[in-house]
Amino acid sequence: MRLLCLATAAALLASPALAQDAVDDFVAPPIQMSLEHPGEEAVEPYERSDAHAGATPFAGTALWEAFHGAEGVSRIVDDLVARSVADPRIAGTFVSHDLVRLRRTLKEQIGYILGGPVTYTGRDMASSHADLGLQPADMGALVENLQRAMSAEGVAFAAQNRLLARLAPMKADIVTR
Ligand code: HEM
Repeated sequence: MRLLCLATAAALLASPALAQDAVDDFVAPPIQMSLEHPGEEAVEPYERSDAHAGATPFAGTALWEAFHGAEGVSRIVDDLVARSVADPRIAGTFVSHDLVRLRRTLKEQIGYILGGPVTYTGRDMASSHADLGLQPADMGALVENLQRAMSAEGVAFAAQNRLLARLAPMKADIVTR
């Protein structure tokens, strides 16, 4: 077996054309796309519930307004995701994940918690993060990026801290190591 492998490797090395053919012939398995949300990958079916957002919403619309409504939340989440995928501390965790879906569900989750006219349709925090092996430092890095994104949007510190206080207990479900 070892000899056969060595012989195959030697043949491939000796003939770059053969190796290139193997690359050209490789067909990646098709990614199932979501019909409900174009541009997103399909996910296994799951129950939908606002309870999966992991926190109850603030009463009234003061916080929703402090975050500049749907447009402000959208800018903050886009900025948070951009900072996180460029952050050497946590960038690796986001590789190969559907960032289109992540941005949409994060906007829903934060909008819902802030008391906006929004429903959360994503998965619960424990099942979304179960396979990621996150550590406390990863949570710290993400929260720091969120603080920067909220500040860039001009959200007052008192309002920022009220949202962070609702997100903090989610650490118990998100951090698994
Ligand atoms: C309070 C903190 C956090 C919140 C509120 C949050 C929220 C979310 C939401 C809403 C989703 C999508 C759920 C779905 O697809 O149905 C998600 C998935 C994800 N989160 Fe978080 N998250 C937090 C912390 C973190 C941290 C610390 C990391 C990594 C450093 C992280 C990395 C990811 C990744 C990679 C996914 C995609 C998982 C997949 O594709 O299945 N999250 N998160």
